[in-house]
Amino acid sequence: MEIISSLTALRDARRNLRGTVALVPTMGFLHEGHLALMHQAREHCDHLIVSIFVNPTQFAPGEDLDRYPRDPEGDAEKCRQLGCDLLFMPETSQIYAPDHSTRVEVSELDQTLCGPNRPDHFVGVTTIVTKLFNLTGPDVAVFGEKDFQQLAIVRKMVADLNVPVEIVGVPTVREPDGLALSSRNRYLSAEERRQAPAIARALVDAQRAWQAGERSAANLLERAHSALSGAADLRPEYVQLVHPDTLTAYTPDDDLSGKPAHLAIAARLGHTRLIDNLRLDRP
Ligand code: PAJ
Repeated sequence: MEIISSLTALRDARRNLRGTVALVPTMGFLHEGHLALMHQAREHCDHLIVSIFVNPTQFAPGEDLDRYPRDPEGDAEKCRQLGCDLLFMPETSQIYAPDHSTRVEVSELDQTLCGPNRPDHFVGVTTIVTKLFNLTGPDVAVFGEKDFQQLAIVRKMVADLNVPVEIVGVPTVREPDGLALSSRNRYLSAEERRQAPAIARALVDAQRAWQAGERSAANLLERAHSALSGAADLRPEYVQLVHPDTLTAYTPDDDLSGKPAHLAIAARLGHTRLIDNLRLDRP
């Protein structure tokens, strides 16, 4: 495995890869969720490129950019074991020139769920993903369903801009108690960690209700809220039922019979913001 930080070295190394190439973009501090993406990527292509870049433009002032966890050496070892060919770890100055002024924006899909609470976040994501696609020239790029809105927005960007990259989504990898793996879980205190699985429980309770025939949006949301209320320190930011592709929110008055439904939750636990989601109408 080659570890690369400069853009020219990346271009040269990419040119030497024969066959198909998959890209797994990450911000590092790799866990089993990231590794599942790499496994999938290996199945799809001859070569694997992993990028690790804590992208400043997707963090708002006051968010956790400065304390985002990092472990470059541990990450490199994991990538090596997973059969990664190129590990791209650029410096911020190489990615963003001081006069950088171009942004890639997918409108509408960023107006719901995390969008209103994190203005500019998804523009930061789509801009860096576009740059990473241009730098690494992948045939396939692999993203996690954990970041369900991010995946929907990247798919839309690729469709709208005719980007010649196939997007593959990978199911969320969870701890045994249901908590979705996330680099941010390491911010949780022991007590917060104990309460955190309430989010996954809320999703599963709503899915069980759906499987038992519940189609009232109000009742499904009520199931989720009641599971969340079991965790005293959890402060929900949103609990929303949305259409899985358009991300249009259903209202509590809606009857979801015959409609596809996805439940998405964001909540704060202490200083940590956690997100999770589950498709209700599929196992
Ligand atoms: P990061 O949070 O490091 O996540 C990198 C990829 O891993 C994303 O596609 C994310 O959805 C996926 N992932 C995270 N936790 C997962 C889990 N528990 N199960 C499955 N997949 C999981 O998402 C980003 O970085 C950035 O926004 C990025 C796309 C790299 C752009 O900067």
